[in-house]
Amino acid sequence: MRMTVIGTGYLGATHAACMAELGHEVLGVDVDEAKIASLSEGKVPFYEPGLPEVLARGAEAGRLGFSTSFEQAAAFASVHFLGVGTPQQKGSYAAELRFVRSAIESLVPLLEGEHVIFGKSTVPVGTAAELQELADSLARPGASVEIAWNPEFLREGYAVRDTITPDRIVVGVRAGDSRAEAIAREVYATPLAQGTPFIVSNLATAELVKVSANAFLATKISFINAVSEVCEAAGADVTVLADAIGYDDRIGRKFLGAGLGFGGGCLPKDIRAFMARAGELGANEALTFLREVDAINMRRREHMVQLAKKACGGSLIGTSVTVLGCAFKPNSDDVRDSPALNVAGQLSLQGAQTTVYDPQAMSNARAIFPTLHYADSAAEALQGADLVVLATEWREFVELDPVATKQLVRTPVIIDGRNVLDASAWIDAGWTYKALGRNF
Ligand SMILES: NC(=O)c1ccc[n+]([C@@H]2O[C@H](COP(=O)([O-])OP(=O)(O)OC[C@H]3O[C@@H](n4cnc5c(N)ncnc54)[C@H](O)[C@@H]3O)[C@@H](O)[C@H]2O)c1
Repeated sequence: MRMTVIGTGYLGATHAACMAELGHEVLGVDVDEAKIASLSEGKVPFYEPGLPEVLARGAEAGRLGFSTSFEQAAAFASVHFLGVGTPQQKGSYAAELRFVRSAIESLVPLLEGEHVIFGKSTVPVGTAAELQELADSLARPGASVEIAWNPEFLREGYAVRDTITPDRIVVGVRAGDSRAEAIAREVYATPLAQGTPFIVSNLATAELVKVSANAFLATKISFINAVSEVCEAAGADVTVLADAIGYDDRIGRKFLGAGLGFGGGCLPKDIRAFMARAGELGANEALTFLREVDAINMRRREHMVQLAKKACGGSLIGTSVTVLGCAFKPNSDDVRDSPALNVAGQLSLQGAQTTVYDPQAMSNARAIFPTLHYADSAAEALQGADLVVLATEWREFVELDPVATKQLVRTPVIIDGRNVLDASAWIDAGWTYKALGRNF
């Protein structure tokens, strides 16, 4: 099939390349000329394991191209995917829908014949219906444009696998005449043949599936982090507790990693937009618990800074602190609302000489926080540290040798912000080991 993907960021570039991998002919379109230039040269402008190879294969096979031209997009295909950003609005919890609307405004007036646009961006419920009205008002006489919703569940770091072999495919279709389900079955023929669950719903349900999934994940993380606060106060160990409750398969151990909490370009803004939309719909009270989920999460960062201060004898002024990791999670270079970078910034603002190292996210971090000191390797970052903070659980940091690492620092004190280190190995090597939700 021929298709376009409008918006070629983390989601769109991955979707475009993976659709080409599945055998489709794909044109990726973005308003960001630098991004399109980079993708056209076969370079992925962000870090995503496996994506450069998939991109190269698609380009070599002649099935994958990129453009900034909506005219080209309109002529290229009659199936379009929309993956532009929906960030948090300035001064509000609500999602910013400017980019989604603008993409429709650019594309629809150029279309001839019958087209289906599958929204993949995460949007407040009701957006697809609103975009259908917008599209109807912009469509040329004789042209028909259907808006469907096909939410994306990929995880950064596993985006290629999640796109090629998704754990489910959800398609929201409008009432009455709709071609979207039949087209989606063709687009996703390969995963569907492998038995991937395929859920067809109305538009509102498909939009809500995505934000509900993210709200649930955020709640699970904040749940264990709230319990972690009690563990600290009561002399309990949250990691042992999480293991124990995780054996109950109604609960499960995943997303029960107590620590610095969640961040990134999705969970924080998605739960806020969900609350805002529920309020607009008159269901104000339904999601007030998400306010608490958000507050628990943001408290982790502050708590980490307090723990760091305590570990440095009450003041950070003049101390050398090494922060390992600044991406919001490992296997990603994404620093949007990163707890790790937030903590590094706060430590610096409170007077610590803060050195940061991350295997992939350094240039993104530098753009946001140019005043931090960035080292070229973990070993360089650790030189002369009074305190080490493990803030993102990259494998490289999890596998650090406590004995060798001790030779690099000035004072062997570490805070394991993700509860991923072998505490007894670090303590046996002579470290003062601190962690969130545990008492050492
Ligand atoms: N990143 C993820 O892991 C992920 C997972 C699932 C869903 N999502 C959702 O997907 C959407 C995109 O997220 P992202 O992380 O890829 O964001 P991103 O910022 O990396 O990418 C968005 C892209 O859209 C482009 N864009 C903006 N306006 C445009 C327009 N009018 N026409 C064409 N392109 C335009 C931007 O230049 C940018 O390249 C969001 O709604 C997000 O919530 C993201």
